Amino acid sequence: MPEAAAQGSGQPAPLAAFGPGRVNLIGEHTDYNGGLALPFAIAQGVVVRAAASDDLVVRAHATDLGEQFAFAVSQREREHGWRAFVLGMVAELHALGVEVEGAFLEIGGDLPRGAGLSSSAALEVALCLALLELAGIDPERLGHVQLARVCARVENEWAGAQTGLLDQLASLCGEQDRALLIDFAALAREQPAIEQVPMQLDGWRLLVLDSGERHEHAGGGYNERRAECAQACRELGVATLSEADEAQLGRLPGALARRARHVLGENRRVTGAVEALREHDMPALGALLDESHASLRDDYEISTPAVEAAVARLRDAGAAGARLIGGGFGGSVLGLFAEDAQPPPEAREVRPSRGAHLLGG
Ligand code: GLA
Repeated sequence: MPEAAAQGSGQPAPLAAFGPGRVNLIGEHTDYNGGLALPFAIAQGVVVRAAASDDLVVRAHATDLGEQFAFAVSQREREHGWRAFVLGMVAELHALGVEVEGAFLEIGGDLPRGAGLSSSAALEVALCLALLELAGIDPERLGHVQLARVCARVENEWAGAQTGLLDQLASLCGEQDRALLIDFAALAREQPAIEQVPMQLDGWRLLVLDSGERHEHAGGGYNERRAECAQACRELGVATLSEADEAQLGRLPGALARRARHVLGENRRVTGAVEALREHDMPALGALLDESHASLRDDYEISTPAVEAAVARLRDAGAAGARLIGGGFGGSVLGLFAEDAQPPPEAREVRPSRGAHLLGG
């Protein structure tokens, strides 16, 4: 326990860092395709409590799993599950020149794992902020984009999931009552890429429902979709699928053409959703959520029977629009409900909330 470790040992007081989960309103599987997305950070997240130790050992405790793990800060042999994230974060910070001299870490929070609300990015971000603070480095000095890249490298290189930057940026940059319009093509060009979009829902509500199916990016179809998109780019001679021309898609084999069609359509739907929010046109936003889901199911082919059942449950309860969110192959679904609708009792309301930060006290 960090508190116990710090007490009477002359160590600095323990600190706590919070990394929120995220919901992507719309713009799915566009991040690694140079497209647009519109996520927001949610109030639920991962908390990492940390205290320094100067024996070059990191001792971590995942409270929800009741598991512990200790490793030398110089260890580079791979680990699995949550351990891969802790080890990877220490290694990636070292590569960046941040000296982690040892730490006691306690990992908790209220974000379910594998439910499609980005518990991995929330963990990475909370770990990153906690370890930077222990090392006396102001995260502002590095900037959100660089921090997101460090966190994503942990996911890509250490946890084996070839995910993009969507979740980490949402967790780091979230703002209360705002969604983040992220332009991943601008981001790749190192240009300003994030615009805050006010989310006034006028009494309407967004709720997530867990499909009950756990998803696992490293072992799932996510990496396969990424490889298909890379293949489609090679065949079309474009750097990203967002640069492809709709008229070219006929040159691609069926499955690759469907993947590309999803990306181009999804980018348009993100732009449409921003407009719907600006015009307070909630039915239009709902229709876009439905269209996004149909495209993810039919063209991107990442839905499952459990996900379809969850979407149907939200629609049967009167959702004006519902869709799967995140990587797919399980996880949560999102529904938009009018003020007087009666969402299923097990669905949980989500609101755009503040991004990652240190907790006081
Ligand atoms: C997961 C990945 C993100 C993104 C989404 C799909 O959440 O971590 O990078 O690709 O899937 O939009």
